[in-house]
Formats: sequence, C-alpha cells, structure tokens
Amino acid sequence: MNLKSLSMVVLLAVASFSSTANAESCETPLADSMGAMKKNIRSFMGAYKSGDSDMQKQYVAELVKLAKAGADEMPLKADGLSGDAKQEMIDSYKAGMEKLVEQFVELEQLVAAGDSSGIGAQMKAIQDHNKASHRKYKKKC
Ligand code: HEM
Repeated sequence: MNLKSLSMVVLLAVASFSSTANAESCETPLADSMGAMKKNIRSFMGAYKSGDSDMQKQYVAELVKLAKAGADEMPLKADGLSGDAKQEMIDSYKAGMEKLVEQFVELEQLVAAGDSSGIGAQMKAIQDHNKASHRKYKKKC
C-alpha cells in the first residue's frame, strides 16, 4: 500500500469513527433499558410461540421491572425544552410509561390464565402504544 492509499484508509477510519460517536450521543440509560425491553419482548414472543408458559412468566416479570425503572427516567428530547413545555413532556412521558407498566401487568395476568388469544391481542396493543410513544418522545438522533 502506498502512502496515498494509506492516508485514504486513515481518513475513512476517522470519518466512520466520528459518525459512530455522534450516534452514541443518543445512548442514554433509558435507551439501554428500552433495548433490554426489546430483547425481552422478542424472547417472550419465542416462548409464546412455543407455548412455554414458565419462560413467558419469567420474561413478562422482567418487562414489568424494566418498564417501572424506565418510568423514573426522562426522555432526552425533554432536554431541548424549558419551563412548562419541558415539565409537560416529562409528565406525559411518565404517564405513557405507567400505561406500559399496566399493559405488562395485564399481560402477566393473561399469561397466568393461559389466555393465548388474549396474549396476542395484548401484544398488539403494546406495540401500538410503543409506536405512538416513540413518535412523541423519542428524539431523532
Ligand atoms: C414494548 C414497548 C417498547 C419497546 C420495546 C421500546 C424500545 C425502545 C428502543 C429499542 C429504544 C432505543 C433504540 C432506538 O433508537 O430505537 C427506545 C428508545 C426510546 N423509547 Fe422506547 N420502547 C417501548 C415503549 C416506549 C414507551 C411506552 C415510551 C414512552 C412513554 C418510550 C419512550 C422512548 C424514548 C423517550 C426513547 C429514547 C431514549 C431517551 O430519550 O433517552 N418507549 N425504545
């Protein structure tokens, strides 16, 4: 490799490193626990499809815990606001997370009752709430 192509490689490496660093500026403890929720939902769906109710119970209990912890955080998007607007976003985000906790508690009850079609409908409702909440509270990074 000659000097010119070596410096191109170095330049490309630096450019790709700085774009990763930018993406990381949106990495928050909340984004981490949301990521853990996503994994647990996937695992829950696996256990649901294979009819393993013990594993479903385990994953849903973890989801309740993660959603409760997330309700004590605040969205990064609120940092860009001030005064009443900021407080309103924090309060409404918290209400959204409390609704998610309730949805997971209901899911837990459906799992305990072995209500398979109820579980399917509840997962759909959780997904809808997830999408609507991300539109409102998730900063585009
Ligand atoms: C099952 C439900 C949910 C799942 C699986 C989920 C998953 C995720 C994931 C994976 C991320 C980070 C990665 C990305 O950029 O996409 C994220 C970010 C975020 N989610 Fe959720 N989410 C759920 C529900 C909610 C709800 C109900 C709210 C609000 C009431 C919410 C608010 C946020 C916010 C604000 C962020 C950005 C992180 C930050 O501001 O620090 N999410 N979510």
